[in-house]
Amino acid sequence: MRGGGLAVSLEGVRKAYPEGGGLREVLRGVDLSLAPGERAALLGPSGCGKTTLLHLAGALDRPDAGRVRVGELDLGALPERSLDRFRRRSLGLVLQDGGLLPTLTVLENLLLPLELAGRRGPAARAAARALLRRLELEEAANRYPDALSGGERQRLAVARAVIHGPGLVLADEPTGSLDGERRREVLAVLGDLAAERGATVLVATHDPEVAAWAKRVLRLREGRLEEVREEAG
Ligand SMILES: Nc1ncnc2c1ncn2[C@@H]1O[C@H](COP(=O)(O)OP(=O)(O)OP(=O)(O)O)[C@@H](O)[C@H]1O
Ligand SMILES: [Mg+2]
Repeated sequence: MRGGGLAVSLEGVRKAYPEGGGLREVLRGVDLSLAPGERAALLGPSGCGKTTLLHLAGALDRPDAGRVRVGELDLGALPERSLDRFRRRSLGLVLQDGGLLPTLTVLENLLLPLELAGRRGPAARAAARALLRRLELEEAANRYPDALSGGERQRLAVARAVIHGPGLVLADEPTGSLDGERRREVLAVLGDLAAERGATVLVATHDPEVAAWAKRVLRLREGRLEEVREEAG
């Protein structure tokens, strides 16, 4: 499909949430640079700000201070219309809760990102069916997400995040609640599909296996980002 990973750069990014009349500073000057096509894991204890950081990189929220760039775009400086276009064309999201739409079938859930990116018709349907086949979800095509197992739901969530060939994939705990084998399956799918499309991938996780899978491991600690491990390639 479409190719080309997007570079990601965060500079001095700060984010606070109101708390008990004051402010709770979650991100206190985060710097991050991901090369196009790079695959990184984001670690840190619950509540440290992983989801917050992914939301900023995906333009689902704006930073209080600092700069977020993806590819050529300065997300903080763009009007909502352009952000919307960026989200539809360039972004693949695996949300922490899966984000599947319960009133759409499996196939319809998978077609939606293609439609939002301006692709419909027989070619789009063929692409969706081919991906379902590959993920062994073909027989579930006309079922609703509620009728899927946890592993099937997470495979579908990953499929949905990559089918439109986004340059950046942000995955929030894509393997949460899965057992070892299912977890490896989801990771393999995410890795293969992202690699085929050259996408840059950032995965928030508590899972050491995801960290082992990633080329690069980062940790959020007291509102800042630390490099845990970096490998060539
Ligand atoms: N919309 C919000 N309003 C107020 N506080 C928020 C909001 N979103 C997140 N927070 C707080 O910000 C902190 C960071 O939340 P975040 O969801 O980014 O953590 P996380 O690292 O993803 O945690 P987990 O591993 O449990 O998913 C938490 O203390 C959370 O309660
Ligand atoms: Mg989270």
